[in-house]
Formats: sequence, structure tokens, C-alpha cells
Amino acid sequence: MRLKLEGNINQYYVQTLCMIFFPGTKFGQATVSRDDPLLQLKLKESPEGVTATASMSYGGNTAKQTFFRAFTENEPADLTRKKVTGEAVVTVGGDLLSYRPSWGMLTGVRPSKVATELLNEGFSKTRVRKMLNTEYMVIPKKAALATDVALAEKKIIGIPDRRDCSVYISIPFCPTRCAYCSFVSYTSRKLLGLIPEYLERLLEDIGKTFGLIKELGLNVRSIYIGGGTPTILDGEQIKRLLAAISGAWDLGRVEEFTLEAGRPDTITYEKMKTAVEMGVTRCSVNPQTLSDDVLREIGRAHTAVDFMRAYEETRKAGVHCINTDMIAGLPGDNFGIFSSSYDKILSLQPENVTVHTFCVKKAADLRAGADVYSMRGGDAGKCVDYTQIKSVQMGYKPYYMYRQKNTVGNFENVGFAKDGYESLYNIFMMEEIHSIFAVGAGAVAKMVDWTPEKGGKPVINRLFYDKYPYEYLAKNKTDELLEQARKFYEERFTDL
Ligand SMILES: C[S@@+](CC[C@H](N)C(=O)[O-])C[C@H]1O[C@@H](n2cnc3c(N)ncnc32)[C@H](O)[C@@H]1O
Ligand code: SF4
Repeated sequence: MRLKLEGNINQYYVQTLCMIFFPGTKFGQATVSRDDPLLQLKLKESPEGVTATASMSYGGNTAKQTFFRAFTENEPADLTRKKVTGEAVVTVGGDLLSYRPSWGMLTGVRPSKVATELLNEGFSKTRVRKMLNTEYMVIPKKAALATDVALAEKKIIGIPDRRDCSVYISIPFCPTRCAYCSFVSYTSRKLLGLIPEYLERLLEDIGKTFGLIKELGLNVRSIYIGGGTPTILDGEQIKRLLAAISGAWDLGRVEEFTLEAGRPDTITYEKMKTAVEMGVTRCSVNPQTLSDDVLREIGRAHTAVDFMRAYEETRKAGVHCINTDMIAGLPGDNFGIFSSSYDKILSLQPENVTVHTFCVKKAADLRAGADVYSMRGGDAGKCVDYTQIKSVQMGYKPYYMYRQKNTVGNFENVGFAKDGYESLYNIFMMEEIHSIFAVGAGAVAKMVDWTPEKGGKPVINRLFYDKYPYEYLAKNKTDELLEQARKFYEERFTDL
């Protein structure tokens, strides 16, 4: 796509807005052709405010409009520029292509953050919904969703304690690779052979990490073992992993302990029973879809029957909080297939359901065809709407949400929960209210310093473990990373 920008404009924001209308488009010299869409945008400032003049052209048609937004005392000038830029691009793009994007000018990962900020400024729920609609061009049903999520999060977060933290443990191995997935995970027979060595190092690092948390006097609120597929470990390995955790920390003081089992073909009654006996309180058993045809299409090596068996065994083993991940908008899927899968999942009454929208990932084997990689996203929007209506009808509430780039139709990912079963870790992770210590390859620890009562934004320091198990084993950066974490606390948390 061609861009001609003039004035104080955030080019990255404009590019992200353009990608709503032209998904997958590239910017820059190498791709320029006269047939490419063209956006011309000019921002002119006066002491009173900002005027944006935008015109977008494609396929012989052009849409053009001018907008003005006044500077006010209550709004930082950068936000005024951003809003008028957003309004101009979304309006001309919408006029040109007869399309109204669901999230309007919001392009960020956390649309509910805007709702949270408005609620924190003292606006009522109704007013926040209205403001998302009028100020940010978010369509009413998504404005309602973002506000509901913000309220649910607020209720759970309360006033964060500076001593709180959570812990993430990474098992980046899977039995086979699903075609849509770009997560770092080893799947080949040779690399899976690293698991025993990986586990030994992980157990050591778990001890060191909880040791530091203890020394710093922190309180662990949630633990999450994620992947990859943690239940690729055999029963004995799971026992050792969980014993290392319970040996390092009193699990009676932890409110939520998740084992993201994930792939039904790795789940057995015995593994889940061990998990429950050793303190796990929440597990994911993920179908993605219950259509065997779609499962085959996305290269997921299990069937719907495998999922049902794994789900039943997990329940029988005594897991009281089960999460099921679904994906809307998968290649080969349609509204009929998806809604019938969704109905079947809800009839099982899992405590959590997480609905993702299919996201086209560069590093995945499966890249979308033209129909999937489209502005309107085929049936995905209808599927996403269905999950939001049906879940509420069946007694679930949306409690966390995020968006990703290159998602079909630019839709969102939403976590639904029965009352009292909202996943704390998901909220803590998304809202960045306290530190997340991390262990293992591909893990990212986030050191967070935030005092909401004092206002301001959280200060976040990310600590990256080596991405691949091989590097993690070879380089052994754990001591160095834990030293950085200690320094962060010693420098910033002098009040603890
Ligand atoms: C970290 S992944 C792993 C979970 C587990 N290994 C499994 O496959 O069941 C968490 C979730 O992200 C979602 N996901 C992964 N790749 C995706 C993609 N390309 N588009 C949308 N959702 C995706 C899936 O629903 C998946 O269950
Ligand atoms: S979707 Fe899950 S099981 Fe499949 S490759 Fe990705 S992490 Fe592994």
C-alpha cells in the first residue's frame, strides 16, 4: 500500500489502521505499484486543535474527508492527534470499501484497557460504552463487551498488593505441530529426546526462582504451567515437576494453579489424578473445534472423540476448573460447523471457555488463502458473535480479552467463565498488575512496579529466557536473569 503522510503523524498507527481494510498489505518502496491502494493524510495544527484531511483510493474509486478535533485541557495533545488520525482513516477506508470495522480506531492488544481507563476516571458503565462508540468508533456490541470485561477485571483485581506475583513455567514440547501454530515448541523425535535433560534444568531453575521469591518476601497468587503441551511429559515426569513446585512453595497459599494440558492426545486419567493430588486446581483440555474434518485440515492430530475422552477423564480425576480453547474462523470451518461445536462444548459445562479468532501467523505451516485473509473475515464474525451471545445465555461472563495482529476480520480473543471461576493468571498476565516470574525456554518474565493509588503507568522490565530448549540448556542464563529480577526489586521496592 502507498502512504503519503504530512504533519505530526504516527506512521505505525496509520499502517495498522490501513491493515484493517487491506489485511496483509505491505508498506514501503519495494512493493509500490500504481494499482496499490493509496492513502493520503495531512495533519495541520493550530492553537485550537488538529485538522486531518484524508483520502483513500483503490480500484478507481476515492473517498475523501476532513475532520477537526479541538485541543482540550483534559486530553493530552498526542491523544487528540491520534483520535483525529483514527477517525479520518477509519472513515475514508469505511466509505471507500463500505465496511465498518468492529473496533473502530482501536488497534491495540487490549481494547478493554481504554474502558478501564475511562471507568477509573469516574465515568459510568453506560457512559463508557457510549464514549467507546462516539470517541473511538467502536460498534455498540464491542463497546459493551470491552466495558463488561473491564468491569469483570476490576472486580477481580481490586487493589493490587505490591507483594503479589505469579509464576509461569514453560514446557515447549508438543507431540506434533499443528499447522496454524507458531508457538516455539519442539516436535521432532530427536528434539523430544531433550525432555529428560530439560526437566532436570527446569527443576533446578524452579527451586532457584521460588527461592528468590521467598527472599524478596513476595506472595505467589497464581502458577501457570504452559506450553507447548505440558502433558507431553509422562506420569513420572509430571510427578517430579509438581513435586519440585510443591517442595519449593506452600501451594496452600496459592489461589490458582493451572496445568495447560492442551492436546487431548496427551491426557490420561492417571496424569490428571496426579495433577489434582499434587495441588493443580485448573486444567486446559483444548478441542479448538469438534469437527474432525476441520481438525484434519488444521493438522491437529486428534479427533473430537479423543477430546471427549480426555475431557471426561480430566473431570473424573477431580479437576474442578476446566478450560477449553476454541478457534473461530479456521480454514475449512463455517458458521454451521462452528456453532454446533460450540453448543456441544457448552453442554459439557466447562468452567472456562476461551474463544480465539484464527490468526494468520508468519511462522506457521498453514497460511491463509485469500478468503480467510480478508477484511470481513468470512464467517468468523458471525461465529464470534454467536459465542458471545450463547455463552451469556448459558451463564458465562466474558472476563478477559485481547487482540492480535493478522487476525481474521480483526476480531478478538475472549475468555468466558462461570461466576467465581475466572482465571486469575490470565487477568494478571493481561493487565500487568504484578510481576510474573518465569522459568524455562521461551519464557518471558515481567517485572512490574505499579502503585495504582498513586496513578501513573506500570514500570515493566521484561526478562527473556533463551527461546529454544537447546539454547536454554546450552547457555544457562537463569542466574543472570534472576539477578536482574533481584536488582529490579531492590532498586524499586524499598517499601517492602
Ligand atoms: C499456547 S497455545 C497451546 C495450547 C495447547 N498446546 C493446545 O494446542 O491445546 C494456546 C491456544 O492458542 C490458540 N492458538 C494457537 N495458535 C493460534 C492461531 N494461529 N490462531 C488463533 N488461535 C491460536 C489455541 O486455541 C491454543 O489452544
Ligand atoms: S497448538 Fe498447541 S499442540 Fe499444537 S503445536 Fe501449538 S502449542 Fe503445540
